[in-house]
Amino acid sequence: MKSIAVIGSNMVDLISYTHRMPKEGETLEAPSFRMGCGGKGANQAVAAAKLGSSVVMVSKVGDDMFADNTIRNFQSYGIDTKYVQKVLHTSSGVAPIFVNPSSQNSILIIKGANEFLKPADIDKAAETLKKVELIVLQLEVPLETVYYAIEFANKHNIKVLLNPAPAVPELDIEYACRCDFFIPNETELEILVGKPVDTIEEIRDAAKVLLDRGLSNIIVTLGARGSLWLTKDGSELLVDPIKVDAIDTSGAGDAFIGCFSHYFVQSGDVEFSMKKASMFAAMSVTEKGTQFSYPSIEQFNEFAEKHAN
Ligand code: RIB
Repeated sequence: MKSIAVIGSNMVDLISYTHRMPKEGETLEAPSFRMGCGGKGANQAVAAAKLGSSVVMVSKVGDDMFADNTIRNFQSYGIDTKYVQKVLHTSSGVAPIFVNPSSQNSILIIKGANEFLKPADIDKAAETLKKVELIVLQLEVPLETVYYAIEFANKHNIKVLLNPAPAVPELDIEYACRCDFFIPNETELEILVGKPVDTIEEIRDAAKVLLDRGLSNIIVTLGARGSLWLTKDGSELLVDPIKVDAIDTSGAGDAFIGCFSHYFVQSGDVEFSMKKASMFAAMSVTEKGTQFSYPSIEQFNEFAEKHAN
């Protein structure tokens, strides 16, 4: 089985389902709560592993009550945790998440141990990383580590995917240009380019700004509007969304990235992988939670069969 490395974050998600956000000074009752393993890197790793990829995770946990649970959670999906290490006297990353009645989420992240994932951790994992087909990166760990991972991937001819989430305006686009895939959502694209992204035309124009700066591929995930792939050669593909009744969109972007990575590594076919990723992300929003909402391969295949066109 071809393998994937995710070099990135893990968090403990504290998800409150709300009627509305409290005003300043107000205490407000919310109907329900769920705690689960999350973090953009971890979610992407779990999504790919649930579909059958062989995944190695390079990440940092704290030395608190969450750390062992996070490691056990990775292992329960068969993810290699040799390079998930503890940072002493530090909390694990945590993410209070608020989901409103329209199923949309607002997320705070407290990075904790994720801040301590450094280039030296990539060096420690180098022999394992050299054997993978794809390295997957996000921005919940220090930028210097992300840049170093891109250099590592380029040096060893490994494909690399950067999901610039959460958007960091100071991201050096030169590094993004050294990635095989750059996959923001429309909000991240707006922050990076500073242009409006309300319509598909505006999204296309904003994406072209990055292509003009040297990106080879950009896939913009558009939630309920699908996803848009543009290449430096001028080709374009809009993948339609799968219509579902959403109850919680948390972790849907990560579901897309993890699923895309799995199918791209197996097939090398971007369009096919985007279509699969759209379906997997659509399924994820029909359940509450982040990783909890990702279907098993059997559930996914059944859903994919129903929605095949
Ligand atoms: O993308 C969703 C994720 O963002 C959550 O799991 C949360 O932990 C934050 O990292």
